[in-house]
Amino acid sequence: MPGSALPLTLDGVWYHSTNGRARAPKMPLIKDLNVRLTAGPRTVVVGPNGAGKSLFLRLCHGLLTPSQGTVAHGPGVQAMVFQRPVMLRRSVRANVDYALTLHRVPRGERAAMIDAVLTKTGLGRHADAPARVLSFGEQQRLAIARAWALRPEILFMDEPTASLDPSATHQIEELIFAIHAQGTKIVMTTHDLGQARRIADEVLFLHRGRLLEQAPAQQFFEHPGNDLAQAFIRGDLLWWTRGRGPRRDPKHSR
Ligand SMILES: Nc1ncnc2c1ncn2[C@@H]1O[C@H](COP(=O)(O)OP(=O)(O)OP(=O)(O)O)[C@@H](O)[C@H]1O
Ligand SMILES: [Mg+2]
Repeated sequence: MPGSALPLTLDGVWYHSTNGRARAPKMPLIKDLNVRLTAGPRTVVVGPNGAGKSLFLRLCHGLLTPSQGTVAHGPGVQAMVFQRPVMLRRSVRANVDYALTLHRVPRGERAAMIDAVLTKTGLGRHADAPARVLSFGEQQRLAIARAWALRPEILFMDEPTASLDPSATHQIEELIFAIHAQGTKIVMTTHDLGQARRIADEVLFLHRGRLLEQAPAQQFFEHPGNDLAQAFIRGDLLWWTRGRGPRRDPKHSR
């Protein structure tokens, strides 16, 4: 599709820490990423804490600039939902309205779009409530509503259910399926392998800033090609010390 945001490709992407001190050694946090994200599959990024999942999403979405390599995509709309939603001190409706205004949606079209997306996310009856009084799960649904209202071609979600209970998690997962069914490419991170199994069509496994595997979900979970991915799926703790190679926790490896 000409003019489409997809495919989105990362070519030889490195990202180094920028801790502000010009002469401090720069630590590579993302190492030589080569990825092609295509329209269609729900892509789930997994990996241990600190693997670089959030950095990866921020690089894809253009919030960070690679220190080396390129991120290429067409001009279509992208949106991102963060792990900790930030709400404006305004009503639920005004929060969505603000996102639409930023994207230059004409005033006359906004009200109907807001009503539709609040209904789809189950927030219709909270439309006039201050966003800050919503429960955590409702706030996360509002963050999703704000993003979905833009009808993005790609939606990036960073740990969208990280601090939610099973019921709120289920509601968010239903929304992810609904957004995908309406034609939006989903790219999300999770530390929850059960969630990855439920949602992923395709899995990316990151470890220590490197992409160790990109595979269809069934293949990843049944026959991971990488031994660290195998350990991760088994639930072994992956740990490492800077300067040494990746190791498995001896207490947990079999
Ligand atoms: N601006 C920065 N400067 C220095 N180090 C950073 C910076 N941003 C991230 N890091 C480090 O880069 C590594 C990857 O971070 P990232 O947040 O992407 O991990 P993650 O896979 O999302 O982890 P989690 O599962 O805990 O969310 C971590 O070790 C983190 O401390
Ligand atoms: Mg993260």
